[in-house]
Amino acid sequence: MKSLKNHPISRWAALLSLGSFFSACSSDSPDFAKDIAPIVYQNCSPCHRPNGGAPFSLLSYKDVAKRAKMIALVTRKKYMPPWPADRNYSHFLNERTLSDHQIDLFQKWYKNGCLPGDTSKLKLPTTLFTSSVLGKPDLIVPVEPVKIINNNKDKFYVLKIPCKIDSWKPVRAVEFIPGQPDYAHHVNGHYLLMDDKTDPFAGNRLVDIESPDYDSQFKSLLLDNSNGSMPERVHSAFNYLPGAFGVRYPEGIGGFMMSPNGVFVANDIHYGPSLKNVIDSSKLYIYFAKQPLKRPCFEVMMGTNGVAPIVPPLQIPAGKITKHVSQMTIYNDISILTVNPHMHLIGKSFKAFAVKPNGDTVNLIHIPVWQFRWQYFYTFTHPVRVPKGSTIFVEALFDNTSNNPNNPYDPPQTIGERLDREGASMRTTDEMLQFIITYMPYQKGDESIDLSKP
Ligand code: HEC
Repeated sequence: MKSLKNHPISRWAALLSLGSFFSACSSDSPDFAKDIAPIVYQNCSPCHRPNGGAPFSLLSYKDVAKRAKMIALVTRKKYMPPWPADRNYSHFLNERTLSDHQIDLFQKWYKNGCLPGDTSKLKLPTTLFTSSVLGKPDLIVPVEPVKIINNNKDKFYVLKIPCKIDSWKPVRAVEFIPGQPDYAHHVNGHYLLMDDKTDPFAGNRLVDIESPDYDSQFKSLLLDNSNGSMPERVHSAFNYLPGAFGVRYPEGIGGFMMSPNGVFVANDIHYGPSLKNVIDSSKLYIYFAKQPLKRPCFEVMMGTNGVAPIVPPLQIPAGKITKHVSQMTIYNDISILTVNPHMHLIGKSFKAFAVKPNGDTVNLIHIPVWQFRWQYFYTFTHPVRVPKGSTIFVEALFDNTSNNPNNPYDPPQTIGERLDREGASMRTTDEMLQFIITYMPYQKGDESIDLSKP
């Protein structure tokens, strides 16, 4: 008996039968209070709440029941919750995907007439209603207000956000708080450490990326030191995407030094189409570190403007689906914390992995169906060790055919990297292929650091 019980196959069989026993009990007539609300609070309400970035709230029984048919559809199609990464490939913090069982619950709940269950004891998680995810900031920096005009078009800007402080200070995290979360689609920001002779407040504050004189407008931001030298830059000092909350690594990991004369640059900020004239007055929340920065993090970028070229070069002929790769060998042991795949509209799929010197593969990220709208910075649950001598590979497909509903051109035209301008571009005529890796030099034990514990 004992040996049978410990036999792996019989253990599996026991688990499987238990699992189906429970799901048969609970899912035949799922109700809101018991079955649906916990899934919604976890996977939908972080965006579907006031100021959460989604167009309507999904909080109360009424909110959800009213849209049950649509919800059954968008969950079945895996359109919601938006989480493009393949969770059979690798795991990240705040993963929001539904299991087949959960998708099934939404279908059954709708078909059975949206039973409320005992909603009297339901409690909304309080974390849903703090405007900032990281809590009370040490410093609030106002962002230049942006007029979003009612032309129903996407808009892309570069914004200069100057910031003077008394002395050098270690920063743990920076959070972008959008003034108009219904319009702000995404923001990528970095930080420039200007020298002490430069006035961070000089120059213009805002550039329209689509404007024909972009280049001269960009110069008018005065993002160099006053003597013409380029200031040191902290990449990805802040990022924003609805539902993708600010990253704060455990105390001691990451962060950067803020100089007395600094400039944050939102490069770029993307607003969705608007039918109203609105003004976005956003803010940066700065969290200073309580301890010195012990484990500095670095960022390396492969592909467009990065350290590893794209092969073949990123020019995608009209009517073609093309594959492009980029590879880079690393010469020190590293612990990867966060990865960010980046392409534009005609990206089709994306995969990145490392091959160790012994031939083993370390999965980094796989995005089977690229979604331009959802470009998260994916933070691993634990640092991923990649030993020295490994090669990191990026493989991406681009679909420049007329079958691609996201193709900006009809009929298709050649789309590619812009070769004449330093820095990323957002124009629809431009494609990009980038893989940004945030890492720290490996130390023994890194694999067991729980990155969800601030
Ligand atoms: C990361 C933020 C986020 C999460 C999480 C999220 N949504 Fe959404 N949802 C949006 C946004 C933003 C839209 C508006 C459409 C768009 O921008 O793609 C949307 C649109 C929708 C729509 C309308 C679709 C349409 O075509 O009009 C439904 C229904 C919906 N979401 C349901 C859900 C459900 C159910 C969940 C959880 C299982 C969920 N969403 C999770 C952000 C989110």
